Amino acid sequence: MEVTLEDVKNIAKTLKEYTDFDITEYSEKSLKRRIERITSEYRMNPVSIVHKIKTDNKFARKLINDITVNTTELFRDPPMWYSLRYDIYPKLKNHAKISIWHAGCSTGQEVYSNIILMNELDILDKAMIFATDINDEVIEKAKKGEYRYRLNFEYLNNFDLVINKHPLNYEINRGVSYKKYFDIDRRNDLLKIKEQYRRIPMFRVHDLIKGEQEFLTKFDIIFCRNVLIYFNFSLQKRILRMFRNNMNKGAYLILGYHESIIEPIELGFEKKSNYYVAI
Ligand SMILES: C[S@@+](CC[C@H](N)C(=O)[O-])C[C@H]1O[C@@H](n2cnc3c(N)ncnc32)[C@H](O)[C@@H]1O
Repeated sequence: MEVTLEDVKNIAKTLKEYTDFDITEYSEKSLKRRIERITSEYRMNPVSIVHKIKTDNKFARKLINDITVNTTELFRDPPMWYSLRYDIYPKLKNHAKISIWHAGCSTGQEVYSNIILMNELDILDKAMIFATDINDEVIEKAKKGEYRYRLNFEYLNNFDLVINKHPLNYEINRGVSYKKYFDIDRRNDLLKIKEQYRRIPMFRVHDLIKGEQEFLTKFDIIFCRNVLIYFNFSLQKRILRMFRNNMNKGAYLILGYHESIIEPIELGFEKKSNYYVAI
């Protein structure tokens, strides 16, 4: 169903007035696409969506979950993981503790990729890993660490690229099998992270937009990949400031492949190859 920008604004405004969710600063174009899909899936028009938000809290929660884009992969964007492996972690390896926040972690593949890498580098015992998302359904899936085998199998290639290959070599030396980290049940199409790794991250529902936020710890690495792209420029800036306030000097900020900070110095960051350092 055709949805106008006016409809999008009305839905966002009603959510803000009647619930805890504020999507008024999400990028309008991507909201429009999501809401168009939702109108046909729910078989509702924008006016009836606005009405239902006002009268049904559970509906609003489901709507927020369906508006968010949760696409993710194991070892998404291998060059980023090479930077972590050969550049960032060697600099952090003598720290007594490495505090990490995955902001917008979706179903957890990014978190478990990082846990696997840290384990291979023998620094997992130093890790304090906090992983959050606004969507309560994806957080439950992340805690389970259970994925469709067929959908995720192709990403096991990325596992090989990051764990078993040096970026300057052509050959993959399959020293580490992914079975070290995953239980595989082909018949039921399941790929499940082994229990000892599932216990490590603290997964929480958390909304990045809820004002200035202070955490009990300052982070050494913040991953916020493929999240800011859905927000407008002024909201991106507010969140980046909040990140900077919760990072140690010299800490690392990792964004998605298509994301960048327009005025990094003003926000307290310096751009290095494919990541940012807090200055
Ligand atoms: C495309 S996924 C990115 C997942 C992972 N970081 C990656 O790059 O593979 C974007 C995630 O951001 C989450 N998100 C959207 N708005 C958010 C907000 N206000 N606070 C926290 N998470 C949010 C979505 O629910 C979604 O799971």
